Amino acid sequence: MNQDQLKQAVARAAVEYITPMLDSDTIVGVGTGSTANYFIDYLAEKKGLFDGTVASSEASAERLQSHGIPVYDLNAVDGIRVYVDGADETNPLLQLIKGGGAALTREKIVAACSEEFVCIADESKWVEVLGNFPLPVEVIPMARSYVAREIVKLGGDPVYREDVTTDNGNVILDVHNMQIAKPLALEDALNNITGVVTNGLFAARPADILLLGTADGVKTVK
Ligand code: 5RP
Repeated sequence: MNQDQLKQAVARAAVEYITPMLDSDTIVGVGTGSTANYFIDYLAEKKGLFDGTVASSEASAERLQSHGIPVYDLNAVDGIRVYVDGADETNPLLQLIKGGGAALTREKIVAACSEEFVCIADESKWVEVLGNFPLPVEVIPMARSYVAREIVKLGGDPVYREDVTTDNGNVILDVHNMQIAKPLALEDALNNITGVVTNGLFAARPADILLLGTADGVKTVK
């Protein structure tokens, strides 16, 4: 199977996994990216079996609505039963790097509000140590250069993702060349830089379960 087929397989597996949770009150959190897009398309087959969704990006909200799936503002719901999203990297503790699609802040908010976070990823995303994928950091535009200098002091090489504005009106710095031995500590340190909105490390709130697409089938990691 190629990478796209692996993404489809884990998206399909995620819909099967959450189906027993669906009833007329269930709110599903929906992530962003190509794997999440497959999840949205398969979730449409369950339309009517659950209340609706909260989306982690405008793009996902539009895709959900194109299928006729209700999308709620997060402030309008009491909570999210389960959140399904992809990742750019995962380690064996299910700590993640996310934000390749620039949706990291809303993804982190939706993850924080969710009872359960199901990560769906093809096997190329599995690593022992996070950091081969450049770590996205969302930054208030006027603080971009200051934050970049502070990131250099932490040992990273920040690169401005040009021509990208997040759904929140901010910019992204992608931090290269960091082997992230202590994800929790780095997540904290980056968030403590004034001007940082959030960073793409999901270590304080890792995934609860990973559905990993491999050549031997979908593996479940908890
Ligand atoms: C978007 C994300 C995505 O989950 C991540 O980039 C993975 O994307 P894909 O499923 O397309 O490989 O964090 O901000």
